[in-house]
Amino acid sequence: MADELLHKVALVTGAASGIGLATSTRLAEAGATICAVDFDGDGAQRVIDSLGAGLAIDADCGDADAVEAAFARCEAELGGPDIAFLNAGIAIGVSDLTALDDATYQRIQRVNVDGVVFGARAAIPRMERRGGGAIVATSSLAGLIPFPPDPIYDGGKHFVVGLIRSLAPTLAPKAITANTVNPGITNTNIIDQATKDFLEDAGFPVMPAQQIADAVFGLVTTGVTGQCWVCQAGREPVPYGFRDVPGPRAVGAEGKRPPVLNADGSAHG
Ligand SMILES: NC(=O)c1ccc[n+]([C@@H]2O[C@H](COP(=O)([O-])OP(=O)(O)OC[C@H]3O[C@@H](n4cnc5c(N)ncnc54)[C@H](O)[C@@H]3O)[C@@H](O)[C@H]2O)c1
Repeated sequence: MADELLHKVALVTGAASGIGLATSTRLAEAGATICAVDFDGDGAQRVIDSLGAGLAIDADCGDADAVEAAFARCEAELGGPDIAFLNAGIAIGVSDLTALDDATYQRIQRVNVDGVVFGARAAIPRMERRGGGAIVATSSLAGLIPFPPDPIYDGGKHFVVGLIRSLAPTLAPKAITANTVNPGITNTNIIDQATKDFLEDAGFPVMPAQQIADAVFGLVTTGVTGQCWVCQAGREPVPYGFRDVPGPRAVGAEGKRPPVLNADGSAHG
């Protein structure tokens, strides 16, 4: 594989398993040095051991101080990051909002929502010092469509889409790109075995995590920004096409709609 990312440092959250593990491997194969961050510290260390180089950090991405400290260590020990893959996340599978207890709500929000904010906030000044960089956050198909089995997960993934799309324009002058990957169902530990069996019996295609890793590699090497790449089994990643919203219309002095004007400026009708 080519060395497109030689001398680049990539910090990956949720690196110990699934999409984070596959992406750490993919970016390392392209020459990047990986800073693997996970609250499964042993798992993060195993990833770095298997890659043969890099830095493993045991950190809870829902803890602002821990995230800031992880980025500070990455900068001090590896010089980066040039790439921040903000990927750690969980699902809770609570479809009935009236059955949602506060602890479960906080448990998901602090990593799926807060973790992306803390990660981006820590990445930006460090990337500026490097002269630029690439932020990719893992949203989900559930960040673009309703997902009734887990509405809090769905809401958090929509947040990630809104956050990253809103950051992209202000980060562009700093030469920092900001994008999301939006995977459909991917074969990782976030999906329980019963669901995997059900999907297999139904003949529903489930993606290998490597497919998301390839999309992340594409996002950090093509220079696009403000995009949300939908990843579905058997397809190339595709940027989601957001529709424009209708613009406002001025309202006349008496609360009436202003006249519709003809092309020459005269009032119509
Ligand atoms: N697998 C899918 O079908 C799918 C689809 C769309 C989006 N996603 C998203 O992909 C991301 C990665 O999930 P995955 O599918 O690879 O699952 P996974 O369970 O295999 O990996 C998640 C990793 O995140 C780590 N993690 C969880 N909470 C953490 C915390 N607070 N601090 C630090 N590390 C933490 C876990 O230890 C684990 O290593 C998640 O954001 C998930 O929502 C997954």
